[in-house]
Amino acid sequence: MAAAALAQVPTTADARLIVPLDVPTAGEARAMVAAIGDAVSFYKVGLELFATDGMALARELKAQGKQVFLDWKLHDIPTTVQRAAAAIAQSGCDFITVHGEPQVMAAAVRGRGASSLKILAVTVLTSLADEDLAEMGYAETARALVERRIHQAIAAGCDGVIASPHEAALARALGGRDFLVVTPGVRPDWSAKNDQARAATPLDALKAGASHIVCGRPITAANDPHAAALRVAAEMAQAG
Ligand code: C5P
Repeated sequence: MAAAALAQVPTTADARLIVPLDVPTAGEARAMVAAIGDAVSFYKVGLELFATDGMALARELKAQGKQVFLDWKLHDIPTTVQRAAAAIAQSGCDFITVHGEPQVMAAAVRGRGASSLKILAVTVLTSLADEDLAEMGYAETARALVERRIHQAIAAGCDGVIASPHEAALARALGGRDFLVVTPGVRPDWSAKNDQARAATPLDALKAGASHIVCGRPITAANDPHAAALRVAAEMAQAG
């Protein structure tokens, strides 16, 4: 890296950068968090870790002063979702995802009550193409359903949505300034794309309206995850 670029590398975490701990065991997740050190302050714990000891890990991360995003995509009858959201709120975790159906979103918002837990709606899974939606009985395209569900998330009192970089501008426009727009599918120019076919750079995702980016393998698979995270943060800092 050139000296001028090195001078811009921040030495602290960017609170808008979320790193997913996509590993099977809490032990591997702890090792990753230790390798990243103070370069990241926000971690995502998904279903893979949930199936082992993800909640214990989440509590440990909170005790270390980190922010925690539980990506569990709740989807059940309203009473169950409401109770689950209330229990998650008690844990002190920061973000939880729910499927973007009106009943589910409203129940999660009721469940978190006055806590600081943020409810994020998953509008349409990016694995679903228009043909898949037709097979499931939806008459809309994925794009139209995303837009409908952003409106419904706002109406239900959700704090934000998960959006691809290509949907971030729409979510920001509909949700307004304080709406959370959390964007996976982010790849710096210098990293492998892996299976993220339509990735955007960290800077472009923020410029498009993301409030937070989820960026995993460019950091977690790097030889030096700490340095890679600071490099991503340096790029994010250019967005202001
Ligand atoms: O390593 P990578 O940056 O691709 O990790 C992205 C994370 O965001 C993973 O945890 C993945 O499951 C999640 N995600 C995604 N695309 C979506 C929704 C979630 O990549 N549409």
